[in-house]
Amino acid sequence: MTESEYTIQKIKNGTVIDHLPYLTHLWLVGKILKFHKLDEPVLIASKLKGENGYKGVIKVENKALTQDEYNKIAIIAPDATVNIIENYRVVDKKKVELPDVLEGIVKCANEGCITNNERWAKSKLNVLDRKPLELKCHYCEHTFGRDNVYIL
Ligand code: CTP
Ligand code: ZN
Repeated sequence: MTESEYTIQKIKNGTVIDHLPYLTHLWLVGKILKFHKLDEPVLIASKLKGENGYKGVIKVENKALTQDEYNKIAIIAPDATVNIIENYRVVDKKKVELPDVLEGIVKCANEGCITNNERWAKSKLNVLDRKPLELKCHYCEHTFGRDNVYIL
């Protein structure tokens, strides 16, 4: 069924992350947004019928995404859209987009990398490609893809 057939409540103010593909992505977004620490209502729905197959939706009242949260969502769900809701209206709708450089967001997949061994060295990865995802460490030049991404 679709979202409206299930009558998933509209929110008054906050953020709706829409077009999330799989249950795993919902779980990961929950981890990124730290649901366990949020003091606001969160609505989560999975396997709703969307235009291109199934989709998941996450709605968080009274919360705007930080740039880091937004970038992290772009890594795990490149087709997601983020809707900003004000007084029940969608006032902004953006497809997530990865910046060219990710700092302190993803762990370098090379365990020997300085960023995994020195406290002061923050991870810095250049985005070589988006689909499929390809990241290259600024320090050790290790290149890796989605399967080896660990979000910090
Ligand atoms: N939404 C909400 N609360 C509101 C307004 C919208 O929860 N007060 C949700 C809708 O249920 C939907 C998302 O925000 O999941 C985007 O809303 P809208 O742009 O109206 O829907 P669509 O046109 O279907 O969006 P898209 O074209 O991005 O699929
Ligand atoms: Zn590295």
